[in-house]
Amino acid sequence: MKYIDFVNLKYKPEETDIICKFYVEPEDASIKEIAGGVAAESSIGTWTELTTIKHYVKKLAAHVFSIKGNDVKIAYPIELFEEENMPNILSSIAGNVFGLKTLKNLRLNDIYFPPQLIKNFKGPKYGIEGIRKLLKVNARPLVGTIIKPKLGLKTTDHAEVAYEAWLGGCDIVKDDENLSNQRFNPFEDRVIKTLESRDKAEEETGERKVYMANVTAETKKMLKRAEFVLNHGGEYIMVDILTCGFSALQTLCEEDFDLVIHAHRAGHAAFTKDPKHGISMQVIAKIARIIGVDQLHVGTGVGKMFETRKEVSENIEALKEEMNGLKRTFPVASGGLHPGLIPALIKFFGTDFIIQAGGGIHGHKEGTISGSKAMRQAVDATLKNIPLSEYAKTHKELENALQTWKEQD
Ligand code: 3PG
Ligand code: 3PG
Ligand code: MG
Repeated sequence: MKYIDFVNLKYKPEETDIICKFYVEPEDASIKEIAGGVAAESSIGTWTELTTIKHYVKKLAAHVFSIKGNDVKIAYPIELFEEENMPNILSSIAGNVFGLKTLKNLRLNDIYFPPQLIKNFKGPKYGIEGIRKLLKVNARPLVGTIIKPKLGLKTTDHAEVAYEAWLGGCDIVKDDENLSNQRFNPFEDRVIKTLESRDKAEEETGERKVYMANVTAETKKMLKRAEFVLNHGGEYIMVDILTCGFSALQTLCEEDFDLVIHAHRAGHAAFTKDPKHGISMQVIAKIARIIGVDQLHVGTGVGKMFETRKEVSENIEALKEEMNGLKRTFPVASGGLHPGLIPALIKFFGTDFIIQAGGGIHGHKEGTISGSKAMRQAVDATLKNIPLSEYAKTHKELENALQTWKEQD
C-alpha cells in the first residue's frame, strides 16, 4: 500500500475507532499524500510497498477520512492496539510520525477514545465531587499554595510555612514539582512534620486541610512513598505525570490507594507550546483523566504561563466533558497567580476549580499568613460581587496585597 492508499474520504468511522485530529504541514509533498503518510506510518504502512502485507493486515489500515486545509482526521481500528496499554497506543498515534522528514510540522490536536477503550482504565477515583466531599467545601473554588522557595527549605521550615498557609485560610498545601527526597528536606520526615502541621491547623481553624506530598520517583519508590503517606494519615499525593510517564501513572492509579491523586504536568510545554508541532494539552488531559488522575493543571489564562484562554478552556473541557461515565477531574489553575487576578480568574473558570499560588501568597509583604488571608479575601469578595478595591477597605491583608500586585483583568 502506498501512502495515498490510506486516504479514504468516504470512510465512515466505526464506533470503536480511535479518532485523531492532526494539524499536518508538508515539507515537500501534497497534503493528501502526507496525511496518508501519517496514517500509514502510525498504523501498518511504511515508505515503500511491502511484499509481506497480507489481505487480513490491510483491514487494520488507519484511514484519513477528512482533510480541511491543514486539519486532518484519521480513524484507527481498535484492533491495532493493546486496549489497556496507553504507551502502546501512543507509540502508534503519537510515535515515529513526528519525525518524518516529509513533514514540516505535525501536531496531535485532539483525540477521541471510544468507550471500548476507556473501560479498560480506572478513571478518577474521587473527581470533583469526591474531593469537595473530602474537604467539605461545596460552592467556592478551593484555595491552595505551593511552598516557596520551591527548593532549599529545611523540613521544619517547610512544615512551618505549611502551617501558616493553612492558618491563613488555604485548604491545600502542595509540594513543588521538583521537590522529592532531597537531603535538605527528606520525603519521610517532611510528610510526618507537614501532616503534624496540618493536624494543628485543622484543630485551630476547624476547617479541613490537606497536604499534597510529591511522590514523584522511580515507580516502585513512588508506590512506597504513596503508601507511606497513607500510613501516616495523608489523603493526597501529587505526581509529575509526564516526567514519570504514563505507565508509571497507570501503575500508581491501579494500586487504588485511598488517596486523591494530584497530577502535575511539568515539562508539558515541550510538547504543547508550539501551535504547529507536538501534542496539545487537551490530549494530555484526556489521557491523564482516563488513566485516573483526580486533579490536573490546566493553565490560568491570566498568570505567568503562555497558554491562551482558548487552550485553557479546551483543557478544562477535556477534564469535565462526558466521557463514558468517568468522574470529572478537578482543573487546577497555577502559575503567577495573586489576589489581584482572582476576579478575572473566577470570571473565566467559574467556581469548580482549584487556585494554587506560590509567590502570590509567600511574597505578601507581611508573610504567609497574611498572604493566605488576602487570597481567601479576594475569593470571598469576588463571590460576593464586591470589587477588590472596595473589600480591601475593610480587609487589610487584601489591601496590602493589592499594593504589591495590582488588580488586572
Ligand atoms: C502549570 O501551569 O502547570 C503550573 O504553572 C504549575 O504550577 P505549580 O508548579 O504550581 O504546581
Ligand atoms: C511554579 O513552579 O512555577 C509554580 O509552583 C507556580 O508558582 P507561582 O505561584 O509562584 O508562580
Ligand atoms: Mg511549581
